[in-house]
Amino acid sequence: MVSRARERIAAVRRGTETLPSPNIWHWPDVYEIENRAQDVDDEVWRALADLVDWTGRDVADVGCGDGFHLPRFAETARRVVGVEPHPPLVRGARARVSELASVEVLAGSAQRLPLPDADVDVVHARTAYFFGPGCEPGLAEADRVLRPGGVLVIVDLDVRNRPYGDWMRGDLPGYDADEVDTFFERAGFTSRPVETVWRFETRADLEAVLRIEFSARVAARAVAEIPGLSMPVGYRVRLRRKPTGLLRP
Ligand SMILES: C[S@@+](CC[C@H](N)C(=O)[O-])C[C@H]1O[C@@H](n2cnc3c(N)ncnc32)[C@H](O)[C@@H]1O
Repeated sequence: MVSRARERIAAVRRGTETLPSPNIWHWPDVYEIENRAQDVDDEVWRALADLVDWTGRDVADVGCGDGFHLPRFAETARRVVGVEPHPPLVRGARARVSELASVEVLAGSAQRLPLPDADVDVVHARTAYFFGPGCEPGLAEADRVLRPGGVLVIVDLDVRNRPYGDWMRGDLPGYDADEVDTFFERAGFTSRPVETVWRFETRADLEAVLRIEFSARVAARAVAEIPGLSMPVGYRVRLRRKPTGLLRP
Protein backbone atom coordinates (compact mmCIF):
# COMPACT_ATOMS: atom_id res chain seq x y z
CA MET A 1 0.00 0.00 0.00
CA VAL A 2 1.27 3.51 -0.80
CA SER A 3 1.62 5.39 2.47
CA ARG A 4 -0.78 8.24 3.23
CA ALA A 5 2.09 10.61 3.90
CA ARG A 6 3.81 9.81 0.61
CA GLU A 7 0.63 10.49 -1.34
CA ARG A 8 0.33 13.82 0.39
CA ILE A 9 3.90 14.93 -0.32
CA ALA A 10 3.63 13.83 -3.96
CA ALA A 11 0.47 15.90 -4.34
CA VAL A 12 2.16 18.98 -2.88
CA ARG A 13 4.99 18.58 -5.37
CA ARG A 14 2.49 18.23 -8.25
CA GLY A 15 0.71 21.37 -7.08
CA THR A 16 -2.59 19.45 -6.75
CA GLU A 17 -5.31 21.70 -5.36
CA THR A 18 -6.82 19.19 -2.94
CA LEU A 19 -4.32 17.04 -1.10
CA PRO A 20 -5.32 13.41 -0.62
CA SER A 21 -6.30 12.66 2.98
CA PRO A 22 -7.12 8.95 2.82
CA ASN A 23 -7.50 8.66 6.59
CA ILE A 24 -10.51 10.97 6.94
CA TRP A 25 -11.77 10.54 3.34
CA HIS A 26 -12.03 6.74 3.42
CA TRP A 27 -12.46 6.02 7.12
CA PRO A 28 -14.31 9.01 8.64
CA ASP A 29 -15.63 6.87 11.51
CA VAL A 30 -12.14 5.72 12.48
CA TYR A 31 -10.88 9.28 12.10
CA GLU A 32 -13.58 10.41 14.52
CA ILE A 33 -12.23 7.89 17.04
CA GLU A 34 -8.76 9.26 16.33
CA ASN A 35 -9.85 12.85 16.89
CA ARG A 36 -11.48 11.89 20.21
CA ALA A 37 -8.36 10.03 21.33
CA GLN A 38 -5.96 12.79 20.30
CA ASP A 39 -4.55 15.13 22.90
CA VAL A 40 -6.79 13.89 25.74
CA ASP A 41 -5.15 16.33 28.16
CA ASP A 42 -5.81 19.34 25.92
CA GLU A 43 -2.16 20.33 25.57
CA VAL A 44 -2.63 21.62 22.01
CA TRP A 45 -5.66 23.67 23.04
CA ARG A 46 -3.70 25.07 25.98
CA ALA A 47 -0.83 26.07 23.68
CA LEU A 48 -3.27 27.65 21.21
CA ALA A 49 -5.04 29.63 23.94
CA ASP A 50 -1.68 30.78 25.26
CA LEU A 51 -0.64 32.06 21.83
CA VAL A 52 -3.92 33.41 20.43
CA ASP A 53 -7.07 34.83 21.98
CA TRP A 54 -10.09 34.08 19.78
CA THR A 55 -12.69 35.11 22.36
CA GLY A 56 -15.24 37.35 20.64
CA ARG A 57 -13.27 37.12 17.40
CA ASP A 58 -13.77 35.55 13.96
CA VAL A 59 -12.03 32.25 13.23
CA ALA A 60 -11.53 30.28 10.02
CA ASP A 61 -10.60 26.61 10.33
CA VAL A 62 -9.01 25.66 7.01
CA GLY A 63 -9.14 22.00 6.01
CA CYS A 64 -11.69 21.49 8.76
CA GLY A 65 -12.53 17.93 7.68
CA ASP A 66 -15.88 16.97 9.14
CA GLY A 67 -15.70 19.85 11.56
CA PHE A 68 -14.43 18.17 14.70
CA HIS A 69 -12.75 21.34 16.03
CA LEU A 70 -15.43 23.85 15.02
CA PRO A 71 -17.65 23.53 18.16
CA ARG A 72 -14.65 24.07 20.39
CA PHE A 73 -13.79 27.38 18.70
CA ALA A 74 -17.49 28.31 18.75
CA GLU A 75 -17.59 28.12 22.56
CA THR A 76 -16.03 31.59 22.72
CA ALA A 77 -15.50 32.92 19.19
CA ARG A 78 -17.94 35.40 17.65
CA ARG A 79 -18.04 33.56 14.32
CA VAL A 80 -16.43 30.37 13.06
CA VAL A 81 -16.05 29.40 9.41
CA GLY A 82 -14.95 25.91 8.46
CA VAL A 83 -13.42 25.59 4.98
CA GLU A 84 -13.09 22.14 3.42
CA PRO A 85 -12.60 20.96 -0.19
CA HIS A 86 -13.87 17.36 0.05
CA PRO A 87 -17.66 17.43 -0.52
CA PRO A 88 -18.64 14.51 1.78
CA LEU A 89 -16.71 16.16 4.61
CA VAL A 90 -18.36 19.52 3.91
CA ARG A 91 -21.69 17.74 4.40
CA GLY A 92 -20.43 15.99 7.55
CA ALA A 93 -19.15 19.23 9.04
CA ARG A 94 -22.43 21.02 8.28
CA ALA A 95 -24.34 18.22 10.01
CA ARG A 96 -22.08 18.44 13.04
CA VAL A 97 -22.61 22.19 13.52
CA SER A 98 -26.22 22.43 12.39
CA GLU A 99 -27.35 23.61 15.84
CA LEU A 100 -24.59 26.19 16.20
CA ALA A 101 -25.76 29.58 14.93
CA SER A 102 -22.29 31.15 14.91
CA VAL A 103 -20.72 28.45 12.70
CA GLU A 104 -20.86 27.95 8.95
CA VAL A 105 -19.03 25.54 6.67
CA LEU A 106 -17.93 26.56 3.17
CA ALA A 107 -16.59 24.45 0.35
CA GLY A 108 -13.15 25.66 -0.66
CA SER A 109 -9.43 25.15 -0.41
CA ALA A 110 -6.55 26.82 1.40
CA GLN A 111 -5.28 28.15 -1.95
CA ARG A 112 -8.64 29.78 -2.74
CA LEU A 113 -10.41 30.63 0.45
CA PRO A 114 -14.09 31.47 -0.08
CA LEU A 115 -13.77 34.54 2.12
CA PRO A 116 -13.39 38.27 1.42
CA ASP A 117 -10.26 40.24 2.23
CA ALA A 118 -9.63 41.10 5.89
CA ASP A 119 -12.55 38.97 7.09
CA VAL A 120 -11.22 37.01 10.10
CA ASP A 121 -8.89 37.41 13.08
CA VAL A 122 -7.58 33.84 13.24
CA VAL A 123 -6.86 31.29 10.53
CA HIS A 124 -6.33 27.85 12.07
CA ALA A 125 -5.28 24.71 10.20
CA ARG A 126 -4.74 21.38 11.91
CA THR A 127 -2.89 18.61 10.06
CA ALA A 128 -4.22 20.10 6.85
CA TYR A 129 -2.51 21.48 3.72
CA PHE A 130 0.21 23.57 5.46
CA PHE A 131 2.93 20.92 5.50
CA GLY A 132 5.95 22.96 4.34
CA PRO A 133 7.38 23.89 0.91
CA GLY A 134 4.51 24.00 -1.59
CA CYS A 135 2.01 25.68 0.73
CA GLU A 136 2.98 29.24 -0.29
CA PRO A 137 -0.35 29.88 -2.11
CA GLY A 138 -2.20 29.03 1.11
CA LEU A 139 0.04 31.30 3.18
CA ALA A 140 -0.74 34.19 0.82
CA GLU A 141 -4.47 33.43 0.99
CA ALA A 142 -4.41 33.34 4.78
CA ASP A 143 -2.74 36.76 4.76
CA ARG A 144 -5.40 38.07 2.41
CA VAL A 145 -8.35 37.00 4.58
CA LEU A 146 -6.75 38.01 7.89
CA ARG A 147 -7.35 41.42 9.36
CA PRO A 148 -4.23 43.41 10.27
CA GLY A 149 -2.84 41.94 13.50
CA GLY A 150 -4.60 38.61 12.88
CA VAL A 151 -2.81 35.28 13.14
CA LEU A 152 -2.32 32.17 11.08
CA VAL A 153 -1.79 29.21 13.39
CA ILE A 154 -0.79 25.83 11.99
CA VAL A 155 -0.92 22.65 14.06
CA ASP A 156 0.94 19.66 12.66
CA LEU A 157 2.44 16.42 13.88
CA ASP A 158 6.09 16.62 14.93
CA VAL A 159 8.16 14.10 13.00
CA ARG A 160 11.00 14.55 15.50
CA ASN A 161 8.91 13.25 18.37
CA ARG A 162 9.21 9.54 19.16
CA PRO A 163 7.82 7.01 18.56
CA TYR A 164 5.09 8.52 16.34
CA GLY A 165 7.58 10.59 14.36
CA ASP A 166 9.69 7.49 13.72
CA TRP A 167 6.68 5.77 12.21
CA MET A 168 5.97 8.81 10.04
CA ARG A 169 9.53 8.78 8.82
CA GLY A 170 9.26 5.04 8.23
CA ASP A 171 6.71 5.89 5.55
CA LEU A 172 8.57 9.00 4.43
CA PRO A 173 12.30 8.22 4.37
CA GLY A 174 13.04 11.33 2.27
CA TYR A 175 11.19 13.73 4.56
CA ASP A 176 13.48 16.58 5.57
CA ALA A 177 12.35 18.03 8.91
CA ASP A 178 15.08 20.70 8.78
CA GLU A 179 13.85 21.86 5.38
CA VAL A 180 10.29 22.17 6.71
CA ASP A 181 11.42 24.06 9.84
CA THR A 182 13.59 26.40 7.77
CA PHE A 183 10.72 27.01 5.35
CA PHE A 184 8.40 28.13 8.16
CA GLU A 185 11.12 30.13 9.95
CA ARG A 186 11.91 32.04 6.76
CA ALA A 187 8.19 32.66 6.28
CA GLY A 188 8.16 34.37 9.69
CA PHE A 189 6.61 31.67 11.89
CA THR A 190 7.40 30.91 15.50
CA SER A 191 7.26 27.24 16.41
CA ARG A 192 6.31 25.61 19.68
CA PRO A 193 6.66 21.88 20.35
CA VAL A 194 3.73 20.36 22.23
CA GLU A 195 3.77 16.92 23.84
CA THR A 196 0.44 15.14 24.00
CA VAL A 197 -1.03 11.78 24.85
CA TRP A 198 -3.46 9.92 22.60
CA ARG A 199 -5.65 7.62 24.68
CA PHE A 200 -8.11 5.07 23.30
CA GLU A 201 -10.97 3.18 24.90
CA THR A 202 -10.05 -0.13 23.33
CA ARG A 203 -7.07 -1.80 21.78
CA ALA A 204 -9.09 -2.36 18.60
CA ASP A 205 -9.61 1.40 18.26
CA LEU A 206 -5.91 2.13 18.73
CA GLU A 207 -4.92 -0.44 16.13
CA ALA A 208 -7.58 0.72 13.65
CA VAL A 209 -6.25 4.29 13.89
CA LEU A 210 -2.64 3.20 13.34
CA ARG A 211 -3.80 1.27 10.27
CA ILE A 212 -5.44 4.31 8.66
CA GLU A 213 -2.40 6.50 9.38
CA PHE A 214 0.40 4.27 8.14
CA SER A 215 1.30 1.74 5.48
CA ALA A 216 0.60 -1.88 6.49
CA ARG A 217 4.29 -2.45 7.25
CA VAL A 218 4.71 0.59 9.49
CA ALA A 219 1.32 0.09 11.16
CA ALA A 220 2.34 -3.47 12.10
CA ARG A 221 5.53 -2.11 13.64
CA ALA A 222 3.61 0.60 15.53
CA VAL A 223 1.05 -1.90 16.86
CA ALA A 224 3.91 -4.09 18.13
CA GLU A 225 5.71 -1.16 19.79
CA ILE A 226 2.70 0.19 21.71
CA PRO A 227 1.46 -2.23 24.36
CA GLY A 228 -1.47 -0.44 26.04
CA LEU A 229 -4.20 2.03 25.20
CA SER A 230 -2.19 5.23 24.96
CA MET A 231 0.84 6.69 23.24
CA PRO A 232 2.80 9.95 23.30
CA VAL A 233 2.42 12.09 20.17
CA GLY A 234 4.22 15.38 19.55
CA TYR A 235 2.92 18.38 17.65
CA ARG A 236 4.31 21.67 16.38
CA VAL A 237 2.22 24.78 16.75
CA ARG A 238 3.47 27.37 14.25
CA LEU A 239 2.24 30.93 14.33
CA ARG A 240 2.60 34.05 12.21
CA ARG A 241 0.96 37.38 12.90
CA LYS A 242 -0.08 39.65 10.06
CA PRO A 243 1.52 43.07 10.47
CA THR A 244 -0.80 45.82 11.62
CA GLY A 245 0.62 48.14 8.98
CA LEU A 246 2.75 51.24 9.13
CA LEU A 247 2.32 53.33 12.26
CA ARG A 248 1.89 57.02 11.56
CA PRO A 249 3.69 59.38 13.91
C1 LIG B 1 -6.04 14.96 8.13
S1 LIG B 1 -7.48 15.85 7.73
C2 LIG B 1 -7.64 16.94 9.12
C3 LIG B 1 -9.05 17.47 9.26
C4 LIG B 1 -9.27 18.42 10.45
N1 LIG B 1 -8.39 19.56 10.41
C5 LIG B 1 -9.14 17.70 11.76
O1 LIG B 1 -8.15 17.95 12.49
O2 LIG B 1 -10.02 16.89 12.09
C6 LIG B 1 -6.89 16.93 6.42
C7 LIG B 1 -8.00 17.73 5.76
O3 LIG B 1 -7.45 18.66 4.83
C8 LIG B 1 -8.31 18.71 3.71
N2 LIG B 1 -7.59 19.28 2.56
C9 LIG B 1 -6.99 18.62 1.53
N3 LIG B 1 -6.50 19.51 0.65
C10 LIG B 1 -6.78 20.74 1.13
C11 LIG B 1 -6.54 22.05 0.63
N4 LIG B 1 -5.90 22.26 -0.50
N5 LIG B 1 -6.99 23.08 1.37
C12 LIG B 1 -7.63 22.88 2.54
N6 LIG B 1 -7.88 21.66 3.05
C13 LIG B 1 -7.47 20.59 2.35
C14 LIG B 1 -8.74 17.27 3.53
O4 LIG B 1 -9.86 17.13 2.70
C15 LIG B 1 -8.98 16.86 4.97
O5 LIG B 1 -10.27 17.15 5.38
